[in-house]
Amino acid sequence: MTLPDDFLWGVSTSAFQIEGAFHDDGRVPSVWDDFPAHEGQTAAVACDHYHRYREDVALMRDLGVGAYRFSVAWPRLADLSFYDRLVDLLLDNGIAPVATLYHWDTPKSVEDAGGWLARDTASRFAEYAAAVGERLADRVAMWIPINEPAILTLLGHAIGQHAPGRVLLFDALPVAHHLNLAHGLAVQALRSAGAKAVGTANNHTPAWPATPDDVAAAHAYSALHNWLFTDPLLAGTYPAELADRLPIQDGDLAITAQPLDFYGVNYYNPTRLRSPSEGNPLPFELVDIDEYPKTAFDWPVVPQGLSEMVTALRERHPNLPPVYITESGCSYGEDIEDRARIAYLDGHIEAALDAGVRGYFVWSLMDNFEWDSGYSQRFGLVHVDYETQERTPRSSFAWYRDRIRR
Ligand code: NOJ
Repeated sequence: MTLPDDFLWGVSTSAFQIEGAFHDDGRVPSVWDDFPAHEGQTAAVACDHYHRYREDVALMRDLGVGAYRFSVAWPRLADLSFYDRLVDLLLDNGIAPVATLYHWDTPKSVEDAGGWLARDTASRFAEYAAAVGERLADRVAMWIPINEPAILTLLGHAIGQHAPGRVLLFDALPVAHHLNLAHGLAVQALRSAGAKAVGTANNHTPAWPATPDDVAAAHAYSALHNWLFTDPLLAGTYPAELADRLPIQDGDLAITAQPLDFYGVNYYNPTRLRSPSEGNPLPFELVDIDEYPKTAFDWPVVPQGLSEMVTALRERHPNLPPVYITESGCSYGEDIEDRARIAYLDGHIEAALDAGVRGYFVWSLMDNFEWDSGYSQRFGLVHVDYETQERTPRSSFAWYRDRIRR
C-alpha cells in the first residue's frame, strides 16, 4: 500500500500527565492536582517535562516523527512562555506542533464558578483560546480545542471516576452541551487569531450489542459516547433521544457546527453492551469483551474496531473532514522489550491505513500519569523511571522509527 506523501506520523501527550512543575511561573491549581489517584500518587512531578522538554524533543527527533501533539495547560494562562519555547524547538527540529487547548486540567477557579455545568464556562474557555491563539497561531500547525469531551462528561461528571468527581448520571448532560459550545467558540477564536488548521479529538468506541436483543442498549450507549459529540459539530444536531435533556439556546447549534479542517479520532477499544437489569437507572450495561487479548488495563486489543469506527463515522457524517488518529496506544508492564506493544501498534496502524486516514499519533511518547490510575499504567514508547527521571526507549520505539522510515 502506498501512503499519501503528507501522511503524518506523530506521538501524543498532555500537559497534566507529563509536565509536573505545579508551582512554576504562576501556574494556578487545577481540579486534577489533588484528585485521588492510585496509591495516593499525584502529578506534581510526573515526567518533569516542564524542565526536561529539550531531552524529550530530542527523543522525538530520533524517533523521526513529523508531528507532536501536546496540550497547553489552562492553569498556565498567566505565563505561556514555556509553550513558545517548546513550539520553537519543535520547529527547529522539523516537527509540526499540534496543540490541544484543553486536556481536562480545568483551573480550580473555573470549577468553583460552576465548571462545565455553567454555560458561562464556554465563554471563559473562548477567552483562553483567544489568548493562546494570539500567542502561538503563527507557528502551530494544527489545533484541537478540547480533548475527549465524552470522557470528561461520562467519567468526570456522570460517574465521578475522573475529576471533578461528580456523580450526576444523566444530569451530567448539560456538561456535554457546554463543552460542544466551548468547542465552537474556541474554533471561532482560533480562526480570528489566524490559526492554520482547526479540528477536534474525540474518543470513539464501536458499540457492540452482546446479543441481537441488545441492539437498543448499544444504540443508547453510542448516542452518549459517540454521537453526542459528533452530531453537533458536523451536522448541527443532537441525537434525538438526548436533545430534550440539553440546555440548547437559539443559535447554539450554529456555533457548535463550525467548519473543521480535520477530525481527530482517539481509539482504544470497542465496548460491548447489553440491556439493563432491573433497577439499573441507565439504558445499558457494559459487558466484558473476553475473546481478544487484553492490555495491562484489561482493555481488549481489537485493531479492526478502529476501521469499523472510522467507517461508522463516515456513514453517519458524509461530510466528515479528513481523519487523523490523534491517539492510539496501549499500556503494558515496565519491560523495555515490549513485543506486545509492537504487535498492538502494528495491527492498529494497518487498520488506520486501511481506513484511509491522514495521520497516526501514538499515545504516548513516554510513560506518564494516567489520571486516576496514577503511574500504574505505562503507555510509553519510552520507559520513564520516576525515581531518576531517566528515559529509556523501548523496543517499540525502534520499531515505530523503522515503520515511519518505511
Ligand atoms: C485518552 C486520553 O486522552 C489520555 O489522556 C489517556 O492517557 C489515554 N486515553 C489512555 O487512557
